[in-house]
Amino acid sequence: MKTDVAIIGGGPSGLLLSQLLNKAGVATVVLERATRDRVLSRIRAGVLEAGTVQMLREAGVGDRLDREGHPHEGCFLTDDDLMVRINFKELTGTSVMVYGQTEVTTDLYAAQDAMGATILHGVEDVVIQDADSTAPYVEYTLDGVRTRLDCAYVAGCDGFHGVSRKTIPEDKRREFERVYPFGWLGVLSRTKPAHEELIYANSSNGFALASMRSDTLSRYYVQVPLTDKLEEWSDERFWTMLKTCLPSDVGGNMETGPSIEKSIAPLRSFVSEPLRWGRLFLVGDSAHIVPPTGAKGLNLAVSDVHYLYQALIDAVKKGDTAGIDTYSDRALMRIWKAMRFSWQMTTMLHRFDGEDSFASQMRKSTLRHLSQSETARRDLAENYIGLPF
Ligand code: FAD
Ligand code: DHB
Repeated sequence: MKTDVAIIGGGPSGLLLSQLLNKAGVATVVLERATRDRVLSRIRAGVLEAGTVQMLREAGVGDRLDREGHPHEGCFLTDDDLMVRINFKELTGTSVMVYGQTEVTTDLYAAQDAMGATILHGVEDVVIQDADSTAPYVEYTLDGVRTRLDCAYVAGCDGFHGVSRKTIPEDKRREFERVYPFGWLGVLSRTKPAHEELIYANSSNGFALASMRSDTLSRYYVQVPLTDKLEEWSDERFWTMLKTCLPSDVGGNMETGPSIEKSIAPLRSFVSEPLRWGRLFLVGDSAHIVPPTGAKGLNLAVSDVHYLYQALIDAVKKGDTAGIDTYSDRALMRIWKAMRFSWQMTTMLHRFDGEDSFASQMRKSTLRHLSQSETARRDLAENYIGLPF
């Protein structure tokens, strides 16, 4: 088998890249380990930056997003009962869109199917060969049959645990990492959201986030120790904890109900540099992970695609390699800024076990400063709605 670009991973970054390349007449094959149902059942991100929305429109998957997505012109940061509104619209002139990652992925699959794109599910034992040569190829097993896929380029869109990053020899990459001593316990429920806008809550009881997918579907998170197991968190225990973290008039009046999804995600900051080795390019979570505070993970994956897709089109169609030669540097410049913001939001809003007495005062003081300084709020808003590509 032969294609222009072999794409490892059919998550948001792989599907979006494939969609944009196919639209420009560049052939792709997407190799995805999981079933489509499995990919679509992973409840993850919920907030799209304006630039992400624009990219999805450009890819031809903006219609349902524009119809069903919920524009948010602000969000709240709270410290016990102090509520600070960050007015994105007033401070930056733009807003974000609440639209779940599952919906983005659903739309991309539909568009790819309509275009007749090749997406193979259930592939196993993917091996990327000769990526540092001019004739790379990918081997994989599907239904027990080992196949060779020849290609001009390989896009590693296979997430943090994929094979792409590990294909780059250790002496050719540098990794930067911070692991946080807590995770987020997330719950999805068919309940009215606690508030019309997202609430990022710092509290004496730890961090919580009140988010949503629609007027009848809520997404909540609370900070938990990494050692906690899902079985230890009944719905009742979750709701009790959430309510103690949110401002009392929000927590006291919110609707609760049975969880329809519950999971624990660890928090990590991670970057692997560079994003290119020969004809292999890393995109999205395969190259970097941010802690979820600030909603940057999915948005960063889309921004990598922004920097890569035109470069690949130029390389495949015109033999012009200027774009692919600078992809890594251009993408990393923005990645590090989002890394800094996500780390800052995480530090500002979470309680760290064993922290000194000074730490909680710093968090309180930061929140108070935000409540009083428009300059501080503007800085946060600019980063939250997404820095320019
Ligand atoms: P992924 O979505 O990870 O997609 C990679 C794909 O590659 C997967 O479909 C996987 O099955 C496939 N794959 C992996 N290995 C192989 C292989 N060897 N061969 C073939 N295919 C392979 N971001 C936020 O902004 N907010 C959140 O609340 C949030 N919550 C998250 C919760 C969890 C548990 C995780 C893991 C991430 C979360 N994120 C969140 C981050 C966000 O979801 C990711 O940044 C985003 O999914 C990145 O997209 P991606 O396509 O690069 O990677
Ligand atoms: C959601 C997740 C986030 O990490 C975030 O910062 C905002 C919203 C969500 O799942 O809705």
